[in-house]
Amino acid sequence: MEIAVVPESRFQEAILFLRENFPDEPLNQGVRLCEKNVPCELLESHDLHTMEDGLSLMATDPDTGEIAGIALNGISRRGEVEEALKSMGITHCIFQIAGIALNGISRRGEVEEALKSMGNVENIQYHHIFGLLFNLNKEADLFNKYGIDEIFELRILCVSPKYRGRGIASKLFAASEKIAVERGFKMIKVDATSYFTQKVCESNGLHTVNEINYKKFKDEHGKHIYGKCLEVNIANGNVSLERGDVTTF
Ligand code: ACO
Repeated sequence: MEIAVVPESRFQEAILFLRENFPDEPLNQGVRLCEKNVPCELLESHDLHTMEDGLSLMATDPDTGEIAGIALNGISRRGEVEEALKSMGITHCIFQIAGIALNGISRRGEVEEALKSMGNVENIQYHHIFGLLFNLNKEADLFNKYGIDEIFELRILCVSPKYRGRGIASKLFAASEKIAVERGFKMIKVDATSYFTQKVCESNGLHTVNEINYKKFKDEHGKHIYGKCLEVNIANGNVSLERGDVTTF
């Protein structure tokens, strides 16, 4: 398998790859933001923005040139998460009890900006995913805790079903870590929303800084908001529920 930075000439191919293969992700399966092979503008504009950081990697089959897997890596900046949350009008309620698991580079300020920019976003599924993740990051408070302004963030790991279970996600993680070190980042962070990515983070020596269990989130009628995500994570083998369903490393 060959691993290289996703060139701009293959951004569109990468988006099509993610459109086909990423909807399996447990949080998305639970919330149903994106459906397989259906354009999902909110997520895909986020993905394109991340690829523009020039840190995202693709694994390609050397025989066919076919994309086997992608690690979408971006930079998180201090303040961006808070801004994004403000713009979403999420300053209260269910999300405040959250914790999370993450991979990637974040720059100081990006989270606040992102949260601000979401002010006009109506999509409830998008809020359920990104509101949750932004709040976990806000709580983790990594910028102040470690006195840094930018974090390398591994935002999405995705391997085509045809190539899963062969260590490609682990290889993409290791290559991402290498590029983070080469570019001088002091921290790599992953919001690991899948049991498998939690394993990748653990086996590569990352430490958990925050985590949540979906069971904690109920609506005003006492119904689990992330009930389907919980089922997917259990199906994936995360049966103990002692670790987070979403874990930030
Ligand atoms: N059963 C049990 N364990 C498994 C299985 C399985 N079927 N498949 C993989 N694993 C374990 C591996 O043993 C490995 O654990 P280890 O590091 O302790 O050895 C770990 O999971 C990763 O295995 P890889 O073979 O490297 O993973 P793969 O290349 O199959 O890709 C991925 C995993 C990316 C999660 C893939 O299943 C996928 O694309 N899923 C859909 C999208 C998704 O959910 N992405 C993750 C969310 S984004 C994020 O969390 C940052």
